[in-house]
Amino acid sequence: MGFLSVLSFAHRCVSERLRPGDIAVDATAGTGADTLFLCRAVGAKGTVYAFDIQQEALDRAAGRVAGEPDAPKLHLLLRSHADMREALPLSVHGRVSAVMFNLGYLPGGDPRIVTRPESTLPALDAALSVLKPEGVATAVLYPGHAGGREEAERVERWAEALPESDYQAIVYRFANRGGHSPYVVAVQKRKVYIGYRRDNNESEAQQR
Ligand SMILES: C[S@@+](CC[C@H](N)C(=O)[O-])C[C@H]1O[C@@H](n2cnc3c(N)ncnc32)[C@H](O)[C@@H]1O
Repeated sequence: MGFLSVLSFAHRCVSERLRPGDIAVDATAGTGADTLFLCRAVGAKGTVYAFDIQQEALDRAAGRVAGEPDAPKLHLLLRSHADMREALPLSVHGRVSAVMFNLGYLPGGDPRIVTRPESTLPALDAALSVLKPEGVATAVLYPGHAGGREEAERVERWAEALPESDYQAIVYRFANRGGHSPYVVAVQKRKVYIGYRRDNNESEAQQR
């Protein structure tokens, strides 16, 4: 048996932490594969928010989930994941179990419409700020396309800089597949988390 693929590894990180009835976010809906995965994991009593800046992606995601038995409440949001904190209701802040990012461009879509570090990094910060203690954020990174390597490296540096007191951060990468192959960064918020809100310098304590 081989090691898990990067996509399977991201799914494993999330599925191990998601329970029926939970709240989850797909930060890059794309074709809807992760949206569907999250919907199945949280079930009819759960809630899923899916972001994308392309209506075509949201339509594809909606199509995948349509007809799914036990589908949760699915909120499709045509806006940047950088706005995640403002886009999610206040009642959800600090209660999200998982946020998934799959960076790059929509498969079969316009490759010029691609995730960019200027919005990806604020979105990752926003994702951590809405996670519940022990919640997880995953990002599948694609260094193989134009701009993808810079974005992947900036996400890695972002993860390296997270305070160890508040987060565990890992990188999952095949060492012998060449520098272009995708890999995963995953971050779990610690159970005892005393965070820092970058947006307004307020200290924020969640579950001491
Ligand atoms: C690689 S695809 C995601 C694949 C998806 N997870 C799936 O299962 O098919 C990346 C998606 O990110 C979207 N995207 C790009 N910039 C974005 C942003 N700032 N906010 C939200 N989505 C964005 C693109 O439109 C594209 O659909």
